[in-house]
Amino acid sequence: MPLLETHALGKRYGDTIALDDLDLAVDAGEVVCLLGANGAGKTTTLNLLLGFLAPTSGEARVDGRVVHTDPQAARARLGYLPEVVQLYPALSGIETLRYFADLSGKPRPDDEALHRTLSQVGLQRDAHARRVSAYSKGMRQKLGLAIALSKGAQALLLDEPLSGLDPKAANELVALVRGLAADGHAILAVTHDIFRAQQMADRIGIMRQGRLVDMVDPRTMSAAEIEALYVHHLRDVA
Ligand SMILES: Nc1ncnc2c1ncn2[C@@H]1O[C@H](COP(=O)(O)OP(=O)(O)O)[C@@H](O)[C@H]1O
Ligand SMILES: [Mg+2]
Repeated sequence: MPLLETHALGKRYGDTIALDDLDLAVDAGEVVCLLGANGAGKTTTLNLLLGFLAPTSGEARVDGRVVHTDPQAARARLGYLPEVVQLYPALSGIETLRYFADLSGKPRPDDEALHRTLSQVGLQRDAHARRVSAYSKGMRQKLGLAIALSKGAQALLLDEPLSGLDPKAANELVALVRGLAADGHAILAVTHDIFRAQQMADRIGIMRQGRLVDMVDPRTMSAAEIEALYVHHLRDVA
């Protein structure tokens, strides 16, 4: 059973179709990237999987749990990296993880486990005790990923995880995401970065005006070919 699934998932606002009949499945070990212009329905897809929005048709499932009928069980199985990671500047990396662990209502993992999570996402040990106000954008993204992972969820949603990262930080994040897939996570990422999507994904979906219009295998196409296909799909959109 896929860890992330949508079945004929749809969302309307009056006459606006934000998402139309989306069928998608992401298995353990897989990274799927969604590309699409602004307004294509990417954020709506993530918000429906998170249970932040109710669908107007179809359903989303996380590890088999239907999101709109069993939101708590679904959300407990889902890690989420928002586009802008909200952090408390005065807390250190390790204090941030402790804080989010306490919020989860579950017993807090011991500090060694929290340090391991921070190291797993590529934060050097000397950064763990540093205040996050001194973190770079790349370090903030890594800490955001550590927060998402510290729940122990196998299914992960990443909203624009590469935006604002320099090439070195973006490379590290791509390697990190591949490593998480190899560890058995199912990852759905929304991105504008075709070049990184080509490196990161097992499949790339192209969305346009609420519809998934194509799904491609990045191993059989160059980033330039994927870009040409993307432009082709968007050709007659204003
Ligand atoms: N709360 C809302 N009310 C009305 N229309 C909305 C609302 N949220 C999103 N939409 C519309 O749904 C479509 C898809 O939006 P969105 O999922 O945010 O796209 P993306 O994330 O791909 O840029 C857009 O046309 C957007 O204007
Ligand atoms: Mg969006």
